[in-house]
Formats: sequence, C-alpha cells, structure tokens
Amino acid sequence: MCGIIGYIGSKEAYNILLQGLKRLEYRGYDSAGIGITDSKTGKIVLNKAVGRVEKLKGKEIKGTIGLGHTRWATHGKPTLENAHPHLDCSGKIAIVHNGIIENYLELKDRLKKKHTFSSETDSEVIAHLISENYKGDLRKAVMESINDLYGTYALCIIHQDKKEIVVARNGSPIVIGLGEKENLVASDVSALVEHTKRVIYLDDLEMAVLKQDSVEIFDKDGKKIEKNIVTIDWDLTQAEKAGFKHFMVKEIHEQPDIIRNTLNLEMPKIKNDFKRIFIVACGTAWHAGLVGKYILEKHARIPVTVDVASEFRYMDPIIGKGDLFIAISQSGETADTLAALRLAKKKGAKTLGIINVMNSTIARECDDVIYTRAGIEIGVASTKAYISQLIVLYMLAESLSGKEINGLKDLAAKALKTVDLKVKAQEIAKKYFRVYNFLFIGRNINYPTALEGALKLKEISYIHAEGYSAGEMKHGPIALVTDQVPTVAIAPKDSVYSKMVSNMQEIKARNGRIIAIATEGDKDIARYADDIIYIPKTEEILTPVLAVIPLQLLAYSIADMRDCDVDKPRNLAKSVTVE
Ligand code: M6R
Repeated sequence: MCGIIGYIGSKEAYNILLQGLKRLEYRGYDSAGIGITDSKTGKIVLNKAVGRVEKLKGKEIKGTIGLGHTRWATHGKPTLENAHPHLDCSGKIAIVHNGIIENYLELKDRLKKKHTFSSETDSEVIAHLISENYKGDLRKAVMESINDLYGTYALCIIHQDKKEIVVARNGSPIVIGLGEKENLVASDVSALVEHTKRVIYLDDLEMAVLKQDSVEIFDKDGKKIEKNIVTIDWDLTQAEKAGFKHFMVKEIHEQPDIIRNTLNLEMPKIKNDFKRIFIVACGTAWHAGLVGKYILEKHARIPVTVDVASEFRYMDPIIGKGDLFIAISQSGETADTLAALRLAKKKGAKTLGIINVMNSTIARECDDVIYTRAGIEIGVASTKAYISQLIVLYMLAESLSGKEINGLKDLAAKALKTVDLKVKAQEIAKKYFRVYNFLFIGRNINYPTALEGALKLKEISYIHAEGYSAGEMKHGPIALVTDQVPTVAIAPKDSVYSKMVSNMQEIKARNGRIIAIATEGDKDIARYADDIIYIPKTEEILTPVLAVIPLQLLAYSIADMRDCDVDKPRNLAKSVTVE
C-alpha cells in the first residue's frame, strides 16, 4: 500500500529513486512522484504522473537529496494533485506518506485558516502541520507534528535548507539502508538491495535522521537509541521475469521447487499443549488458513478456528492463555493481520507467524515464526506463497501430532507434472475467456480451493467469480446456473467424490457447463464434465496443493487472453498496510 523511497548521498538521486519506485510499484500503482532539492536553485522540484512509474522516466531533476512515492489511492482519486510528494505552502517542505491519518479533516479545518490545500489527500495535512511547527529544526518539527496525528504512517520529509531526510513510523513499514557515503530509506528492502544489504528496521513511534554520512535513530521521547543492523540475503535475480511473460506465471512455475525448499526448513519446537488454535489471515492467506483447519484437525486432532483478520480484530474474540494464535501472511505487513496479532498477544495467547518476508513487522512481533520459502513474490495475485503456506501447515500438523503425512515427500514431483498443465489450461481458457460469471465449487478440504480459484480469477481477469461449498449450491447459488455461467468443480477421487458428482449432475441438469479438476485415471468424470483437467493421484489431505495449480493457470490464461495487466491488477496492491 504505497511505496516510499528516499535517497541522500553524493550521486544524482533521480534515477536511484526511479529505479527504487519501479521495485516498489507492486505496492501501489495509481500515481507516482519524485521530489528533489534542485542542486542549482536549492528549491524542491516535483515531478508527478498519474499511472505508472514509467511515466517519470527521462524527466530528470538534478540533485542528491530526494523522495519518491508510488500511490495506492485511499483519500482522493489518482490525480496529479493527489500524487505525492506533497509540499507545504512555502514549497520548502516535501513529504511522502504511507498509511492513513484518521483525524485529517479535523486537522485540515484547523490548518486551512492559514494554509492553502491543493489535494484531497489526508497526507497533505502533514506537510502543513510540519511547516506550522518548523522553527529551524526539522526533526523537532516532525516530532511535534506527529503528536497531533491519529492513524498510521510511514513518513519521509525533506526541507530545502537541510541536508537530511527525517523519517517517522507508526503502523506502516519503513526500513533504512546504510550505504557508503549515502543512505536510503524505503517501504521495503526490495528497493534497497541494489545499493546495500545492511539495513535497520524502524519500529513504531521511532524516528530517524538520515544524512550523507550518518543515520541517527530516536525513540518516542526523542532520545537517541542504537538499533541492530540486519544483513539481508536477497538475490535480485528473483525479482526478474527470467523469460516469462509475467511474474505470476513465473511464480506458478517455481512452485515445485518451493515445495521442496519449504519441506527442508527447520521447524521451531512448538510444545503441543494448546486447547485450541486460532488461525487469522486475509485473502489468499486466509484460504491457506481454511485448508489448515482441515489439515490440523484431521491430522493433529486439535480444534481450529479460522477468521479473516478484519473481522477477528473487532469481534472481541474469546482467546487467551493456553491458545495458539497463528497469523499467516506473505508480506508480514498486512494491517488487519497485524492488529489481530496484537490483540491475541494482549489477551495472552501464544503467537506463531507463518510469514514469507523476513523481518517484516508481523514476523518480528510473533513469539515464534516459521518462514515460508517462497522467495520474493512480485505478482499481486499470490500463488507460490499460498503453496508454501500449505506446506508449512502440513509440517506443523506433523510436528504437533508426531505423525508423518504420507505422500508429502512426493508432492514436489507431482506439482511439477501439474505445472505442465499450462497448455490444457490455455485450451480451456480459449473457450471461456469471454464469459461474465464463473462459479467454483468444492467440498471438505477442497472447499477453500474453490474459494481460492474464484479469488484468483476475479482479481486478475475482472470476471465475476464465486467460490462455494458444493453442498451449498442448492441453497441459493444454483439459481445462477445457465449455459453462460461455467462451473469449475474440484472433484478429486476422495471421500466426498460421490457427493461432488451429485452436485455436478445437478448443475448439468440445468444446462450448466462444467470444468472438472479430477484425478488421473478417473474416466467416469467425463460423463458429467465438459472439460477436464487431470491432476496426479495423491493422498486426500494433499489434494489442495495439486488442485489449486490448474486453477492458478486457468485464471492466468483467461486474464492474459483478456489483455489484463496480470501482475498489477486494477485497484489492488501487494502489501495491504491500511485497514
Ligand atoms: O501479505 P498477506 O499474505 O498478508 O496478504 C493477504 C492478502 O492481501 C493477499 O493474499 C491478497 O488476497 C492477494 N491479492 C491474493 O492473491
């Protein structure tokens, strides 16, 4: 949700900021902007564009101190006026902001008597507030100003007369990169690794002052503090497409390796003395949690409750000592999941994170963390992170029960065969890519697979898709079935196969067209399905891993045929750091 980058050093800042924004663009891509203190005039010059970062290319501003921002609109449409950086009235102070200032209207009312506002954003109030408090010391002015802010922020500020960048954090991630005679700051390390591998993660209510040769960190009372320097082990080649048309399809193809890598990780020792497990997550990670419930209850026989984080945080949950709370998150920064985690901790539960991004806020705040081995996931639609979350949940079930899950070791090889179904998925996509509605049905452990298949399709192709438990169809959704509304039925040969077949027949009887995800060798399914994608045979508990891959491929092929921007679907962002 919004990407921030800042540079101070001896090099020209513009292209460094531009490159950083490209790396951060997955966080938001409604508009972008760069602000630099012009080395000739000494004044801050802005360059903004509506749409993609690319539009800022070739419009260099000369100078060695600057800020960049890529926006995911919250307050106000994606216009030039609403794009960051925002200036105060004098034009001497520029700010970039990620987060939401909840009391901005109240502040705006107070400030507009003396200050002229030029955007509809909540962020602009911060620039005017700092200007109001500025008496020659930028850090002090920022410190005073943030006392008045109610909400979340990662903030970077420059003043044309100062050779420094002031940074502040509350609730939105920000990380500082330590260079040689230069320092950088960004929303995440992807924008820093080209310059340095030594970073400092700011925590909530901390501030930093970056100069060319120094970085100072301050606590909430303004006292200077020392922080750990973390060395990051990122491989930038992971952030390239490697010959694939999109990151999403590259990431789908990486899944067999990711299964292997994740199975090799060392599990932390978690004592199995819990009364209950609560899994909380959002979006695709929530779907992983739903599969996790089946896995943990079937294999480890521990009761599991799964909730979306945005609901859990407001439901006054009955959770406490003796319970295990599991947060699942690819980014480790999702605002709702983080809030739910903090609530569970406050109520005394033991907390465990299943997280992909190292050192992310959720990872740092959990009692224990298991890092999934998905590598950098760039496509906004989560694919490989989901698979790695499922693998960790299987391993957790093994560890909590002390019993092995048969077939887990063969799963990577079977996933490799499943990834090869791309051509079949394209063939089916050609038949259906023009429809307006899709249904996805599944039962038992593959009910969440149906939800995930529908989410993948809707988010990247903009086709309306609903995921349903197959048994629920007759309670309403079957009314939608016509020959223009195809249904994807996840029907591997498992304990609920005959029930799935009955549900498919009910759809056929109403002229519905069916695409079945079935087990290799199941010839009978052809009687009920118009199209079939066969997945390798595996144990029932493992079928969600193999069944979701053709759904990812189908969604990808349909979205690509519809010429959609697969890796950056409209209105979405990779890291959802606002509520
Ligand atoms: O980073 P997280 O795993 O916490 O993100 C959760 C969701 O925002 C994410 O899974 C989202 O639903 C994806 N766009 C799904 O493809």
